[in-house]
Amino acid sequence: MFDALVGKQLRSTQLANARGNLWEGAVRSSKTISSIMVWLRYIRTGPPGALLMVGKTERTLKRNIIDVIVEMVGVKRCRYKAGAGEVIIFGRTIYVAGANDERAADKIKGMTLAGAYLDEVTTFPESFFSMLGTRLSVHGAQWFGTTNPEGPNHWLKKKFLDRARLHLRRDGSVVESEDPKALDLHRFSFGLDDNPYLPASYVANLKLEYQGLFYKRFVLGEWCLAEGVVYDMFDEQQHVVDIIPAVRHWMCVGVDYGTINPFSALLVGVGEDERLYVASEYRHESRTARRQLTDAQYSREMQAWLGAYRHGGQQGVFPQWVFVDPSAASFMTQLWADGMSGVAKADNDVKDGIRSVSVAFGGGLLSVHRSCKGLLSELPAYAWDDKAAAAGEDKPLKVDDHSVDALRYALHSTAHEWRGLLRTDLQEAA
Ligand SMILES: Nc1ncnc2c1ncn2[C@@H]1O[C@H](COP(=O)(O)OP(=O)(O)OP(=O)(O)O)[C@@H](O)[C@H]1O
Ligand SMILES: [Mg+2]
Repeated sequence: MFDALVGKQLRSTQLANARGNLWEGAVRSSKTISSIMVWLRYIRTGPPGALLMVGKTERTLKRNIIDVIVEMVGVKRCRYKAGAGEVIIFGRTIYVAGANDERAADKIKGMTLAGAYLDEVTTFPESFFSMLGTRLSVHGAQWFGTTNPEGPNHWLKKKFLDRARLHLRRDGSVVESEDPKALDLHRFSFGLDDNPYLPASYVANLKLEYQGLFYKRFVLGEWCLAEGVVYDMFDEQQHVVDIIPAVRHWMCVGVDYGTINPFSALLVGVGEDERLYVASEYRHESRTARRQLTDAQYSREMQAWLGAYRHGGQQGVFPQWVFVDPSAASFMTQLWADGMSGVAKADNDVKDGIRSVSVAFGGGLLSVHRSCKGLLSELPAYAWDDKAAAAGEDKPLKVDDHSVDALRYALHSTAHEWRGLLRTDLQEAA
C-alpha cells in the first residue's frame, strides 16, 4: 500500500541526520510519511535508551501517527497500549504523551531520552518543547518532528526554524547556514507538489477546504502573518442575495449574546439548491435603542422573530438547532425554560470557526440575505489583531464582532452537516 519515497521525500530522509529534524509545510504533502520512515529506521538503529513520541494530545498522536505506522508495518510490529501510555514498535517500548497534558509533562521532566518523535510541533507549549530539548541527553540522541505553518512570529519559527543549520527548501535546493551559532537542526519545507501520490481531484478539493489565510499556510505552506481582513474572500457582489430560494432544511440559528454589547442571532437554512443561506438576522443594540433587555425579553424576541419570518408562503420557522455563545449559560437556561428546541452550546474554537466560515464563503456555498444589516456591516471590517500577530498569536480584533461571531457559531457548530456540500464546480460558478 505504501510506495517508495521519491524526490524530496527521499532527499529529506537522507538529510535527517541532525540532532533536530523538522518537516514543515502544506497539509498532505507527505511530511508524516517521510518522517515516519526515518523514525522507524531510528527505532532499529539509533542509540539505546528511552524513546518518546509526542502529539498535541495522545489521541491525535494515535490517529495521526501510530495508526499510520500500524498500517505500514502491521499490528504485530506496532502494538499500542492505550492505558499504559506506551507503544511497542519492533519490540522496543516507546513512551507516548500529549504535549498539552500536564501529567505527561511532569513525567517527562525526569527522563533521559535517546530519541523523540514529535507530531504537530507548533501546537506544543514552548516550555514543553524546551524541556524536551534538555531531556534528549543520551549521546547521539535525535528528534524528528512535523508541523504545518503558523504565523512568522510563532516561537518555533523565530527561535528554531530561522536558525536551522540546513534548509531543504520548497524548490528543492539545500541551503546551509554559515552562522557559527546556527542550531543543530535540519529543516525540510514541503509543498503539495512534493507528494506525487495525491490524485488531482483530491488536491482540487483540498484547495476548496482552505481559504484566505488558511490557504496560504496549509496549501501553499507559507509561514504568513494573520493580517488585514479576516474574511478577505467575502465579496458583496458575489455573496449577498435579495431572494432566498426554496429551503429544504432550516439548519440552525447562531446566537451571540450581549446585554450592553449588541445581541445578534442569525437564521441559516440549506436551500434545495444545496447551498447555505443566512436568511434573517435579529439584532438588538442596547446602546442605540437606549434599552437593555433581560434574558426573558431576549428569549421572547427571538421566538417572535422566528415566528414572524415568512418564506415560501409560510410563516414561522423551527430551526433544528440553536447554537448559543457558550458563555451565555443563563440565556440558554431561559431558552430551554421557554420551550425552544435544539438549544446547544456553540463550538467556540475561534480559529477553526473562522476556517469554517471562510470555507463556506470561499467555496461559493454561503450567501447572505441583504436584510442582515448587522452582519453585512461587520463582515468587510472584521480584522486580525496586528499586535497579537506580532507576538506570534493569531486572533481577530474584538471590535464589531457580534454578528460575525453568531455566524461563526452557526456554521462551525454544523460544519459536519454541510462540508459534504462543497463542490469544486460551485466555486468556479460563483
Ligand atoms: N510513499 C507513499 N506511498 C503511498 N502513499 C503516500 C506516499 N507518500 C504520501 N502518500 C499519501 O499522501 C498522504 C499524505 O501524506 P502525509 O500524511 O505524510 O502528509 P502530511 O504532510 O503529514 O500531511 P498533514 O499536514 O495533513 O499531516 C498519505 O496519507 C498517503 O496517502
Ligand atoms: Mg502529518
